[in-house]
Amino acid sequence: MNAPPKTFHVKSFGCQMNVYDGDRMAELMAADGLAPADADVADLVILNTCHIRERATEKVYSDIGRIRKVAGKQGRVPMIAVAGCVAQAEGQEIVARARVDVVVGPQAYHNLPELVAKAAGGTAALDTDMPALSKFARLPARRRVPPSAFLTVQEGCDKFCTYCVVPYTRGSEISRPFAAIVDEARALVDAGAREITLLGQNVNAWAQGDLGLHDLIRALDRVPGLARIRYTTSHPNDMTQGLIDAHGDVASLMPFLHLPIQSGSDRILKAMNRSHGRDSYLRVLDRVRAVRPDIALSGDFIVGFPGETEADFADTLSLVDAIGYAQAFSFKYSQRPGTPAATMTDQLPAHVMDERLQRLQAALNRDQQAFNRATLGRTCTILVERRGKLPGQMLGKSPWLQSVHVIGDHAIGDLIAVDLIRADPNSMAGSVPIPVAACAPPGPLDVAGHSNEARASIGPFAD
Ligand code: SAH
Ligand code: SF4
Ligand code: F3S
Repeated sequence: MNAPPKTFHVKSFGCQMNVYDGDRMAELMAADGLAPADADVADLVILNTCHIRERATEKVYSDIGRIRKVAGKQGRVPMIAVAGCVAQAEGQEIVARARVDVVVGPQAYHNLPELVAKAAGGTAALDTDMPALSKFARLPARRRVPPSAFLTVQEGCDKFCTYCVVPYTRGSEISRPFAAIVDEARALVDAGAREITLLGQNVNAWAQGDLGLHDLIRALDRVPGLARIRYTTSHPNDMTQGLIDAHGDVASLMPFLHLPIQSGSDRILKAMNRSHGRDSYLRVLDRVRAVRPDIALSGDFIVGFPGETEADFADTLSLVDAIGYAQAFSFKYSQRPGTPAATMTDQLPAHVMDERLQRLQAALNRDQQAFNRATLGRTCTILVERRGKLPGQMLGKSPWLQSVHVIGDHAIGDLIAVDLIRADPNSMAGSVPIPVAACAPPGPLDVAGHSNEARASIGPFAD
């Protein structure tokens, strides 16, 4: 028997979908009467984990060790729950290896209060069921959210790229119902959101009958108070003409597209089972640029996939040169248990991957800076999201998802017009802004008790 926890902390790793889930877990525990607290003092620590690469997975075990060590010095034994994709993939193994109290998969976390109660009774509790969508109906309503909020509309993946664990950890593609999404978007706006990013492992595979993601975007465009819409992560094969057209005429749809390709080599794309080639990807981008010439493009790359030759890698570099990404994420291939690529014979040595990653990142940094310089002198709106480090400094995002800092008396949640006057390596400076629209949101969300180490794309994880 353990005392039932009175305080909790959720720590999310991985993609934005995990951040969304982590926020919802925090709301669920708060609704169950627990108070949010810092990780080092909470009675219950929920680690919302990522399985995408080996380092991300190993982080769970080192974090568990660290939490126990800190608590041990204080004479405490916190309850530890492992949620997210490692929980789904390794389930019982985590209980055995790390003796955690609760293991709960991404489709089952609405059961957390019951699982925590069971663990307090002295029995390790495990739930990695995948019931279709039932969790959303069981989650409490959103009360306070940041100006830029996430909304999961699609989950899972049926594409089975040969390197990837997501189809196994998140299950097959499921779309949430249209009406539930529009209702949640309205609730998010009421709770302080001005921008919503629609999330899915393959968000543009969202469908309901004849409706596609573009229909959803057009419906959300009509939600009063919602100024900006984004979506991520999309798959090249699901970039329909309807979605491309929406980029041309839906004003609230921001000119930003995260469309991973992974490699510029057709041979490697085939071995990855990506089901699209280099040229078809380039043609999709041409069609998007035709309707939205200023679109900022983003992508994900894997270097060192088994069998990747120097010529294959040169194809990736030439693709990058041809596109000029505004930003992109690149990763060394990580061998994941249970995936077809893990047993391919021609795995590359680490030093080859390191060296290719460096070359690719140099090219991507160069292009990011070129993109930022190309926006100098433009006037655009930014959505103010938080305070900066300097006195009077506020940080927001441009339509092209650049971080922009401005000095001035602006509230979090304001949409202000700025001139982009300086391009720094990772951000832009904006000039004295002219207010175009101000709102009085309830303030920044500090979904108290939820910290995360996720970064700004579904791809880039905390490793
Ligand atoms: N559904 C999205 C991506 C989800 S996973 C898509 O297909 O684009 C996010 C990113 O992690 C991928 O785009 C890929 O770049 C990277 N990734 C996935 N599995 C990986 C692995 N085994 N090793 C290295 N990077 C990987
Ligand atoms: Fe699915 Fe994306 Fe993973 Fe491919 S990389 S299997 S499309 S989640
Ligand atoms: Fe899962 Fe997202 Fe990581 S789907 S494996 S948490 S990238």
